[in-house]
Amino acid sequence: MTVPRFDYPYGPELIPGPTEPGDGLWRWCRLLPLDGSGSYPLQVGDTPLLRPTRLRDAVGLAGLVLKDETRTPTGSNKDRATALCLVDALRRGARAVAAASSGNVAVSLAAGAAATGLPAYLFVSGHTVSPHKVALMRAFGATVLLVDGSYEQAYRLSEAACERFGWYSRNTASNPLALQAKKTVAFEVWEQLGRVMPEVAYVPVGDGVTLAAFALGCEELVRCGVADRLPRIVGVQASGAAPLARAFAEGRSTWTPIEPNTIADGIDVGNPFYGEQALAAVRQTGGDFVQVDDDQLHEAVALLARTTGLLAEPAGAAALAGAITHRPTVSPPDGPIVVLITGTGLKDQRRLPEGGRAIDVPADLDAIGRAAGA
Ligand SMILES: Cc1ncc(COP(=O)(O)O)c(C=O)c1O
Repeated sequence: MTVPRFDYPYGPELIPGPTEPGDGLWRWCRLLPLDGSGSYPLQVGDTPLLRPTRLRDAVGLAGLVLKDETRTPTGSNKDRATALCLVDALRRGARAVAAASSGNVAVSLAAGAAATGLPAYLFVSGHTVSPHKVALMRAFGATVLLVDGSYEQAYRLSEAACERFGWYSRNTASNPLALQAKKTVAFEVWEQLGRVMPEVAYVPVGDGVTLAAFALGCEELVRCGVADRLPRIVGVQASGAAPLARAFAEGRSTWTPIEPNTIADGIDVGNPFYGEQALAAVRQTGGDFVQVDDDQLHEAVALLARTTGLLAEPAGAAALAGAITHRPTVSPPDGPIVVLITGTGLKDQRRLPEGGRAIDVPADLDAIGRAAGA
């Protein structure tokens, strides 16, 4: 797949000044094809960068920072792309919007469409989609099409439907604005680190857009002359859905599509649309690919919850699982190491880690004290 390039007149003047006010991701509008500030109704972007002391101690990475992309309207990094695509859809006078999704894009588009008053048609695999996420899509008033087939089949159908019915496609694989919007996360990380590039960035990989966009954002900072190097970018895939990690390990730039199988629905992708770009970005930055299995994903979700108070879904915590697995090869371990936490665990209660205690107690303070060990 070839990705159209947007050319900007790169230079430091495209970068907002430290005191320049901004409206979320629109703060970077001089590096975006469209500006939705003041017009897009939801607050998107400008998510926190956390310095998690207890997690740093637990994993032995003193320079670890978390980019908390759960803090968006629907709790995933997909809201950035939805915002820019919907501003474009409105500008073009679209009468409806559509997308295929493993879950989060569809929830994001459902909310964005509700906010902008557009009907949304969401194509999901009826075999793999989380029922909790379908309930959320419906709560926002969207039409959910539960396809009797895979995510890839849902994608092809959604594109054909857009063609036939004149709907606006928010599909990342066909709409280049998604990549443009998602690159803003790299700008924010750089700015939040004090206008410094991280040494290493861990990014979960499904279709590879999040990773390719992060790399593009870093590259544009260099082209603007405000950074002089790229971070090493490490892609993290679930071992049941790791075509790119395998290709990378074998030194290949093409991959063999597989039938994916992981609990992490966001990265349950066997034939990534942006695979080529993701592989190239990892190679160009001297990065790496890591595989993590479902147990490691569960453990990362649990550790994150217990040590930081952040609840991620398995795909959202995959980058952390990757950083933990990769830790012995990270050098220097105390340089800024950014881990993207891309999706909240609040949307799919099936994957909650077990922990804490729930104790039946009588309505009696002494008994409560004894039971709670106070
Ligand atoms: C929470 C979460 N993390 C990571 C990803 C993977 O992103 P990409 O498909 O851009 O590689 C997804 C994709 O749906 C996701 O929902």
